[in-house]
Amino acid sequence: MPHDPRGFHPETLAIAGGYDPASASGAAKPPVYLSSTFVYESAGQAKDIHEAYFRGTGPEAGKPHYIYARLSHPNLAMLETRLAAIDGAERAAVFASGMATHSAIALQYLRPGDSVLHSRPIYGGTDALYNQMLPHFRIATVPILDGCDGTHIRAQAQKAMAQGPLGLIVIETPANPTAAITDIALVVAVAEEIGRQTGRRPLVVCDNTFLAPFAQRPVEFGVDLCMTSLTKYCGGHSDLLAGGVSGRAEVIDPLLMLRTMLGSHCDPFTCWLVLRSLESVHVRSERAMTNAAAVAAFLRDHPKVAGITYLGFIPEGTPQRAVFDRQCKGAGSTFSFHLHGGEAEAFRLLDALRLVKLAVSLGGSETLACHSASTTHYNVPAPDRLAGGITEGTIRMSVGIEHVDDLIADLAQALEQV
Ligand SMILES: Cc1ncc(COP(=O)(O)O)c(C=O)c1O
Repeated sequence: MPHDPRGFHPETLAIAGGYDPASASGAAKPPVYLSSTFVYESAGQAKDIHEAYFRGTGPEAGKPHYIYARLSHPNLAMLETRLAAIDGAERAAVFASGMATHSAIALQYLRPGDSVLHSRPIYGGTDALYNQMLPHFRIATVPILDGCDGTHIRAQAQKAMAQGPLGLIVIETPANPTAAITDIALVVAVAEEIGRQTGRRPLVVCDNTFLAPFAQRPVEFGVDLCMTSLTKYCGGHSDLLAGGVSGRAEVIDPLLMLRTMLGSHCDPFTCWLVLRSLESVHVRSERAMTNAAAVAAFLRDHPKVAGITYLGFIPEGTPQRAVFDRQCKGAGSTFSFHLHGGEAEAFRLLDALRLVKLAVSLGGSETLACHSASTTHYNVPAPDRLAGGITEGTIRMSVGIEHVDDLIADLAQALEQV
């Protein structure tokens, strides 16, 4: 059975998983099911389908039924099956955006009085959710500034627990925008220690957006929730917004139920686009990573560049290198570099680019660059930005799949003008 996930590699599951042509008149590719509601065979069956959905019992339990598209729809189910298969998880839930996914996780798994530990830097929107929105609900947050240092992580966990039971540990690794790395297995081990000590094991959420499913597989390192902004590498063409989270059924199912209330599901056409893009994400990522290695080497050696945080350059013999070698299958294609000078120099470079587009976001086929402090992390207070390594001269680049010589030539002419 070509759609049976058992035994296939993730690259194969990205193409064969989640869709059975027999379910749609033999169409090799899935139709887009543009229907908001689904017809029952009888009033009795309608009752049974609702029992199956809400209670998981009765004659219709376990059968693939749909009720109303906000609860689920065929394209959503296909995408969730494929994403779970690629991530190596039992179940996945797909939302309208990465932030809709993060918000649902926080709403489902935190209660007033809880505390949260999160890596820093972290995407500006996630930072705002945890540090600006959740304090209104009496949820305290404490940052992890060195995600490879067990002593530091445990000390920060104690600080968090002094303010309330630790509900979530949220890590983003590599981090946006600096590609700072957190040891996933170490964080899971700390969560387990806390569980043994307190009787409540915090759930570990890993935002896998920066490397995407083929270059890093957080579920294999024991995280409870592997979150991905599908807007980035998985969508891959900067033409959609979506988010997903994979994990055990017992942690994903409550999120599916919550999504029904929030109405933050992903629509059929966007699901169809992501399902299609997932087929090629591993090849696109490979080319982007090869290009990024060459672009990063060019920038590192340029006299106007003061520093670069590219995973491939983590020095041998450091704890970060050991973690990188253990948990990452590639160095990714998004990184940051810093020019000598500050905002003025960074703006001159960005304004001089001709091929590389000046835009936020990452993981698309085209190369993008932006000034982190004034765009993606604008809303993060300056001291917190600096603590996370984001200076006024930091430029983030997401390298695409164009010919690498054209990218380097564009950067070279722009650097001339700084
Ligand atoms: C690491 C990371 N996580 C989450 C998000 C949020 O995803 P979305 O824009 O799909 O809501 C982003 C967006 O840039 C991101 O970079």
